[in-house]
Amino acid sequence: CGIIGYTGKKAASKIIIEGLRNLEYRGYDSAGIAALENGQLKRLRAVGKVKELETSLLKNKLSSLCAVGHTRWATHGKPSENNSHPHTDCGGNIAVVHNGIIENYLSLKEDLKKKGHKFKSETDTEVIAHLLEENLKTVKNLTAEQKLFEAVRKTAKQISGAFAVGIIWTGAPGIIVGIRKQSPLVAGIGDGESFLASDVTAFLKHTNKVVFLEDNEIVVARQNNISFYDENGKEKKPLITQIKWNTAQAEKGGYKHFMLKEIYEQPDAVADTLRFGVEDMPSVFGMSGKQIKNIKKIQIIACGTAYHAGLCSKYFIEEYSGIPVEVDYASEYKYRFVPSTPGTLAIAVSQSGETADTIAAMKKAKEAGFKTLAICNVLGSTLTRMADHTFFTRCGLEISVASTKAFTSQLAALYGLAVFLGFQRGVLNSAQFKKYSTEFFALPRLLENTIKNTAEAVKKTAKKIYKEKTFVFLGRSANYPIALEGALKLKEISYLHAEGFPGGEIKHGPIAIIDSHVPVFVLAPKDNLFEKMLSACEETAARGAKVIAVTDKKGAEILGKKVFALVKIPEANSFLTAILNAVVVQFFAYYIADLRKCEIDQPRNLAKSVTVE
Ligand code: G6P
Repeated sequence: CGIIGYTGKKAASKIIIEGLRNLEYRGYDSAGIAALENGQLKRLRAVGKVKELETSLLKNKLSSLCAVGHTRWATHGKPSENNSHPHTDCGGNIAVVHNGIIENYLSLKEDLKKKGHKFKSETDTEVIAHLLEENLKTVKNLTAEQKLFEAVRKTAKQISGAFAVGIIWTGAPGIIVGIRKQSPLVAGIGDGESFLASDVTAFLKHTNKVVFLEDNEIVVARQNNISFYDENGKEKKPLITQIKWNTAQAEKGGYKHFMLKEIYEQPDAVADTLRFGVEDMPSVFGMSGKQIKNIKKIQIIACGTAYHAGLCSKYFIEEYSGIPVEVDYASEYKYRFVPSTPGTLAIAVSQSGETADTIAAMKKAKEAGFKTLAICNVLGSTLTRMADHTFFTRCGLEISVASTKAFTSQLAALYGLAVFLGFQRGVLNSAQFKKYSTEFFALPRLLENTIKNTAEAVKKTAKKIYKEKTFVFLGRSANYPIALEGALKLKEISYLHAEGFPGGEIKHGPIAIIDSHVPVFVLAPKDNLFEKMLSACEETAARGAKVIAVTDKKGAEILGKKVFALVKIPEANSFLTAILNAVVVQFFAYYIADLRKCEIDQPRNLAKSVTVE
């Protein structure tokens, strides 16, 4: 979910709507706004995307100069108007927007119900409003602002879990109080105006002077100034950061969807990510020769598409550097026993740097004393502030929920890291290092050729198979995680059933699902595993599957007429073909979803960045 608050001299509703649009990547199940007008709390909420709220605002104008807003990714309670934020207390005087999960909300709700509180939603958030109502009764002999502040402090001690909260109260007009624990909250300092939000993009258009709140920190935003306090209520001097970020509004630039545009942007995105020379590698990866020699193990933690980038990199990092690599879903890593192997380098891979699971896993790695590296696309994000060092993928703003250019940029970064580590540790000799780094820096051109040579072939094939309901993707070695990614992309944007398997594993069970209505995508570059992939083609074709082979020129000569369709990628070293095949599976998912008329850039049930554990 995304939260925003504004207090200043301008019409708050306009600023809140703009901010919510920029926060929509955090969820778009419903949106809402609450403002104080003539001493009364006014609230508008709408199910669906922010544009629904905007439409409702056209009919129900809000002129307030102070408001809070929210865009929701449903956790507790289905997307409905009642479950939408802001939530209020019984008296309708307090409005709360919240990102995170209140873990003890059920017991709190029971207690509050016994005290006569009536709940209107199924959410965990609503308890905060009711607790505040109770706590406001107990704070006496203070100014209105102090009362609200103390009630918030007391409430924060009663709730457990993760939260970033923004609160307004009719008793203290023009003031927003915010508090955070684990979930991110950032304050913006403007000229006669103040902002609070889940991330800086929400208000960057208005100010680039920001303060990232620490855990348990409380902020009081007023029109003319803003103050920060620790959990004991003691005022703190804020650390103000000036953000340099190009806010140029992303446009589709003639493409039908952002996803398609972002697929086409990959050569540039990867070129920007690789805008460093061989000699800059120690500084871009933040590791000296001595530190590299001390690495005994690499632990990669990530979620979703970023996890697939990590899994793919295991193959080349291990082969080039000889360092054992373990790859975990961040959500699993956080809760499993992790031996504290000395010399572990933990690498968190994340486009947004705000994924709650990845942040929690990174915290665990830090607590275990591991050196940490973040591979991230967003400046100033929580993960980059936690990690010892950050490698920035520079793929620019990724708008489509389904990640494409961030994925290939992550792969490029990890490939560069593998080559660098291999050379520094003496596993690769100078000639190999030169060869691999030359190939690596040529990746943008290879991606460009891949796009040019595959888009039409994929589109044509998609037209023949888009009505099927189940799809299988096969690959081996570094192409196996790409098969997983192909299946994930298809699921995400077309809601079809798709699965990825290692080519050699299909015969051990999954082949049971194959018949003439299950198209099989086989990622089979002409490398040392080509013959094995050929067997997978034969085995599935023998069960009636329409096999779509993705291969290079030499592979095509052999696969030729054996398969239902052929998509040709440029020749490259086996590991780099995995990065090229990523583009092909993205195209597949895109064209199938488009033919099925799906809402590609904002698929149902998803959020670009999931900020709850
Ligand atoms: C969400 C998105 C995925 C994304 C994952 C990790 O689940 O829907 O597309 O891969 O988060 O996001 P991150 O920002 O950490 O890369």
